[in-house]
Amino acid sequence: MMFIFSAQWGSVPEKDVQAAAEILKEGGVVAFPTETVYGLGARYDSEVAIKKIFAAKGRPSDNPLIVHISHPRELALVAREFSPTEEKLMMAFWPGPLTLVLNKQEAVSPLVTAGRNTVGVRMPSHPLALKLIAATGVPLVAPSANISGRPSPTTAQHVAQDLVGRIDALLDGGETTVGLESTVIRVFSDRIVVLRPGSVTRSMLEEVAKLPVMLSTETEGVPEAPGMKYVHYAPEAQLILYVKANRDEIAASLARDLSTAVIAYADTLDGLPANVHKFTLGERGSVDLAAQRLYAYLREADSLGVERILVEGIESKGLGEAVMNRLYKAASQVIGGQA
Ligand code: TXA
Ligand code: MG
Repeated sequence: MMFIFSAQWGSVPEKDVQAAAEILKEGGVVAFPTETVYGLGARYDSEVAIKKIFAAKGRPSDNPLIVHISHPRELALVAREFSPTEEKLMMAFWPGPLTLVLNKQEAVSPLVTAGRNTVGVRMPSHPLALKLIAATGVPLVAPSANISGRPSPTTAQHVAQDLVGRIDALLDGGETTVGLESTVIRVFSDRIVVLRPGSVTRSMLEEVAKLPVMLSTETEGVPEAPGMKYVHYAPEAQLILYVKANRDEIAASLARDLSTAVIAYADTLDGLPANVHKFTLGERGSVDLAAQRLYAYLREADSLGVERILVEGIESKGLGEAVMNRLYKAASQVIGGQA
């Protein structure tokens, strides 16, 4: 039996948040919105509950979970020995979509950390997430609330598509605003390594920390976040990514096969036949809509039953770096750029 608590007049009623918190306290698993994507929560200190998360998602056990807190005072429960730079970054970006990989407290279960001596922690900014964690009274571990390998959920409907019957409750807070998962970083004395790019960009981190910020793929010896090695964010259809695309290439590709959806900037879509399924990235050069809607578009294209999804690449800069990171991982073919 799964309870669905829906937003009315823009917010989920207090009593529903309390009911969801009761389920969590007793070791259940509850999906809830954050500003990035929906998460599937369980109390961080219950191995029984944590195992339910891995089972519901079909998640590999070597992929560690992020601990979500509702107040900085909860940080000491899970992590220790923060550097002044780490504190500065928390002050600047919490609550918000930044996950710091920190040295873990002894008591944190290896199920959370996949046996590592570090733990990922973030304080989300979505009011429902903050309320739910506070009402439960302990931090919540929460991976994205999708079946492993599928695009992350940005609406309650996406969560239900993947997990109905596998979880105890779902808090519906409408569409998430950021749309891509949090930036994951590890701070070293002389640099910051981005393990997963997100909407807290390299230049934002650099400005606060006054340290060089690099992507883990550019750094020898520092692995990406373990989760980044799996096939990810993938729709069922074949995704073909056009880097430095031009409309003619996309149009030529379409002419060969119309069982296709196209995700592209508005001016590219304008030049394509009317009977093609079109998903707009907005005005050329904009990035926010691409981040917010990418996963929803991939799911919608799949539900149309198309065989291929053609995606116009965007500039890999700032938030665009996070969008392109996900697209490269989802693509079965890249045209005009690195594989
Ligand atoms: O925005 C988000 O971060 C969402 C919402 C729900 O908060 N959560 C999310 O969780 O994306 P998940 O489990 O889908 O992705 C967590 C990522 C994985 O790539 C994982 O490998 C990495 O964070 N990660 C977690 N703990 C880590 C650690 N101790 N060291 C390195 N990477 C870690
Ligand atoms: Mg995920």
